Amino acid sequence: MDIIILGIESSCDDTSAAVIKNGKVYSNRVANQDVHKEYGGVVPELASRAHQQNIVPVVDSALKTAGVTKEELSAIAFTRGPGLMGALLVGTSFAKGLALSRNIPIIDVNHLHAHILSVFLQEEGESKAMPPFPYLTLLVSGGHTQILIIKDHLHSEIIGQTMDDAAGEAFDKCAKVMGLPYPGGPLIDKYAKEGNPETFQFSKPNIPHLDYSFSGLKTSFLYFLRDRIKADPDFVENNKPDICASIQKSIIDILMDKLVQASQQTGIHHIAIAGGVSANSGLRNRLVTEGQARGWQTYIPEFKYSTDNAAMIAITGYYKYLRNDFAQYSDTPFARIKAE
Ligand code: KG4
Ligand code: ZN
Repeated sequence: MDIIILGIESSCDDTSAAVIKNGKVYSNRVANQDVHKEYGGVVPELASRAHQQNIVPVVDSALKTAGVTKEELSAIAFTRGPGLMGALLVGTSFAKGLALSRNIPIIDVNHLHAHILSVFLQEEGESKAMPPFPYLTLLVSGGHTQILIIKDHLHSEIIGQTMDDAAGEAFDKCAKVMGLPYPGGPLIDKYAKEGNPETFQFSKPNIPHLDYSFSGLKTSFLYFLRDRIKADPDFVENNKPDICASIQKSIIDILMDKLVQASQQTGIHHIAIAGGVSANSGLRNRLVTEGQARGWQTYIPEFKYSTDNAAMIAITGYYKYLRNDFAQYSDTPFARIKAE
């Protein structure tokens, strides 16, 4: 019998629904929320309201695109956390309501776990190389930066993580001080393509083990801009590509240094990246070149599966479904990460 999972993602500012049939993506619909742009960040109350407006049409569209009816669903997977509580409640409640009406199981999914499994997403007819276990993942999102050993589809071990800001936050905060709108990561990526990454140098953190820190870089960038703007009020406007290329390179250097160490320490040469920052073209290129130089096999999620999407929720739900790992109706969302 076909295993058909509907996935629902509503942890932050994207409302998304996807259908996975027998482990392959049949649809993945994402409704972005433009409402936050003018506020310079995600406004939780507005996110929650937008999810309420979007969820029915987005789920409807995901089912129609996949050519699947509600009656055919085997289970519904939803993001339980981490994320914004009001936003998570919309997806969680919707998943429970629909599953109850169909009398099918619900599957709770950790958003970070789902990002990790985004490298396993492929459409019907596709057969891309999948990483063998154990492999390493550099997970880089708006809220988290971790290096993990992935032991199987459901088990992993964190071997390094950030002590302060996440890599995505570093991108967004640097973009903000340059006067770029939220989220700044994709814009830094865009301008960086035209710039010289060697133009400006920023301080590198000195953190032991496989851990990260980005707060020093952010402060050094802030002081650098303040000093340059004092001398030339149009400094940012006149040097945008070089500034973006330089700050992007600094963030990537920091990320890659520890990833190389992690590979050396564990002896693992199958290396993946995941999370919103894995959409960054500089990081994607760097992983490939570093991998070629070091004899790694590298795995990068398709661009559309790098940032928040429900296909990654549905594929995680699929692997949990195969192990009868279901949620209870009494399970409530969690805003912050918790040990599983
Ligand atoms: O995984 P994600 O979509 O949401 C969270 O789970 O946090 O990650 C969002 C983060 C934001 O900080 C955003 O600026 C960053 O990913 N991001 C990028 C790019 N696309 C998204 N950062 C750098 N370059 C990009 N192309
Ligand atoms: Zn995410």
